[in-house]
Amino acid sequence: MPVAVEARNLTKRFGQFVAVDDLTLEVEEGEVFGFLGSNGAGKSTAIRMLCGLLAPSSGSARVNGIDVVRDPERVKRRIGYMSQRFSLYEDLTVLQNLRFFGGVYGLDGATLDERIAWATRMAALEGKEDLLTSELPGGWKQRLALASSVLHRPGVLFLDEPTGGVDPISRRRFWALIDELSGSGVTVFVTTHYLDEAEHCDRLALIHAGRLVALGTVSHLKQVFAGRAVLEVTCPRVVEALQRLEQEAWVLETSVFGTRIHLVVQDAGEGRRRGILVLEASGNLPATVELIVPSLEDVFIHHIEQESPAH
Ligand SMILES: Nc1ncnc2c1ncn2[C@@H]1O[C@H](COP(=O)(O)OP(=O)(O)O)[C@@H](O)[C@H]1O
Ligand SMILES: [Mg+2]
Repeated sequence: MPVAVEARNLTKRFGQFVAVDDLTLEVEEGEVFGFLGSNGAGKSTAIRMLCGLLAPSSGSARVNGIDVVRDPERVKRRIGYMSQRFSLYEDLTVLQNLRFFGGVYGLDGATLDERIAWATRMAALEGKEDLLTSELPGGWKQRLALASSVLHRPGVLFLDEPTGGVDPISRRRFWALIDELSGSGVTVFVTTHYLDEAEHCDRLALIHAGRLVALGTVSHLKQVFAGRAVLEVTCPRVVEALQRLEQEAWVLETSVFGTRIHLVVQDAGEGRRRGILVLEASGNLPATVELIVPSLEDVFIHHIEQESPAH
């Protein structure tokens, strides 16, 4: 598969602080590539370098073979970019925004009309053309921002937390649009901190404190638990249980999910039996210890703890 996005040792420093640290990755054409990390992980900084909007401190990147440092203007014309805070003009109507962004990308006349008609249909904004952008619900604004960023048929689309602050139904609908664009051959590079969204991606990069900590398909990433089991513990005194379970040699890893504890163990049956014994011994009852299918969140926590053991 041809490579659409390529980063080589891409690094961004702000003074002494390293926001993106030696990032190397490749995204194939037509892929939906998820860039997953918590707030401050370096996602927006990385995406802005890839889009030719921010010069790297060191390293290099290419988008569709174009060097982002040497030729940022050419990169900008070839890509679509939806920034974290949609850059729509609130005091313009839907149609005026589309016309404005089409103009920015050098479209005019019949071509612009045709592309606006296509984008309006794609984003389900037909009949809304004359509404004022400031009056649109969040999910519509988001679809308008997406429509505005694909008018010029970009080969690669960069979306920076496109679903932030949008309700779950709009989020699901938005992901259907991403799938549609991807199906038509567009490469999608999308950042998110929603783990459920990450499951939509062909491949994922997990980023933590500016560093790439894992890369692969969702099922590949879940392989970190292959040959081991993840157990979920519930009991009345979670903090105490965690402290006790961490002492146990058969417990390989622990993490807390709200009021539940996850344990990574070698053997599910033995782990369940021993887990109950530990909780019974301290009267931490009623307690349950059940085998679960690890989620992406388990994977993410596993990698972050490996990177920076905080105990
Ligand atoms: N212009 C800047 N100057 C100094 N620090 C910055 C600048 N931009 C981002 N940062 C810092 O870099 C880190 C990564 O930020 P960002 O890329 O926005 O993370 P994310 O998008 O994953 O939330 C944060 O700690 C942020 O405060
Ligand atoms: Mg960001």
